[in-house]
Amino acid sequence: MEEQIQNLRNQAIARIMALASTEEVEEAKLEYLGRSGKINEVTRQIPSLEPERRSVVGQLINDAREAIEQALIAQITEIKNKTDKNKWFDPTIPGNKPQIGHLHLVTQAIEEISSIFREIGFSRARYPEVEWDWYAFESLNMPHDHPARDEWETFFLDTPENPKLGKMVLTPHTSNGQVREMERVTNPPAGGPPIRMINIAKCYRRQSDVSHVPMFHQFEGLVVDRGISIVHLKGTLDYFARRFFGSERKTRLRPYHFQFTEPSFEVDISCGVCLGRGCKLCKSGWLELGGAGMVHPNVLKAGNIDSTKYSGFAFGWGVERTHMMKSGLKMEDIRTLYSSDLRYLRQF
Ligand code: PHE
Repeated sequence: MEEQIQNLRNQAIARIMALASTEEVEEAKLEYLGRSGKINEVTRQIPSLEPERRSVVGQLINDAREAIEQALIAQITEIKNKTDKNKWFDPTIPGNKPQIGHLHLVTQAIEEISSIFREIGFSRARYPEVEWDWYAFESLNMPHDHPARDEWETFFLDTPENPKLGKMVLTPHTSNGQVREMERVTNPPAGGPPIRMINIAKCYRRQSDVSHVPMFHQFEGLVVDRGISIVHLKGTLDYFARRFFGSERKTRLRPYHFQFTEPSFEVDISCGVCLGRGCKLCKSGWLELGGAGMVHPNVLKAGNIDSTKYSGFAFGWGVERTHMMKSGLKMEDIRTLYSSDLRYLRQF
């Protein structure tokens, strides 16, 4: 029975596509979809089937009916187009433009962020997405079994451990690039700091709900040089806030804790509607952007940098979140971003 329906559907569509006049299409419509048409003929056989097969077969018949309806409509349009064109060709009508795609919302945000930082001398770095525990945690002052690790809900890989570097993980944050970048500038023939890095990459965490995706993006800034202080961090953050969000926006630092920065902060940006005074939208006047701080001496040490000569700052924020704060885009479900639904993505 199922095969019979499938054949009916395929034959009908093939025949309809070969029809040359609207009259023929009307005839075909009666033949397949009319009261005593072929679709109704098979529908009438449903009651004689075993009860458990009825709904499956019914669904198949419905699908076939829809497909045939679509084919009929498409063929009518096709025939009309052809005859219209034969009648008169107007060379002054603008041509049909082919559809042009565009970059994904997140790619656009990444490009904008990296070009803003490029203007003040940050170079974009790229480090592995599948990383050693050492770079993701241990070198960042988070020893094995340290409770601070919990926050990253890490995906560990089921691969052999490296005696020095530990397990393999999917990068839970872009901070894995910190010690890698330090190694890059301290390994000969490179001559050591300064570092001005912006590392934008995919991050993975075991989370999935309306405001979290298991794969998202972060951008991480790292500056290491002689005499770097919180003032440089604040200046850089304010510069970014003004360039990315608008000239009237400001940032503020709130004390926080990260193992790999000391002191550590959470960075807030003044609300775009009330500019920090407090409104219905933001309540406090400020919106939370992400983490930052002065690089912990242990992290500099792990990257072979002398912490008595050099100091640095780092910050790491989510690309999706930062972009949404700028555009005012309210997403019911952030997972839509990665659903490949063109109806959604074409809007941007
Ligand atoms: N890696 C931190 C996070 O994922 C953010 C951060 C980066 C904090 C750099 C301080 C310095 O939450």
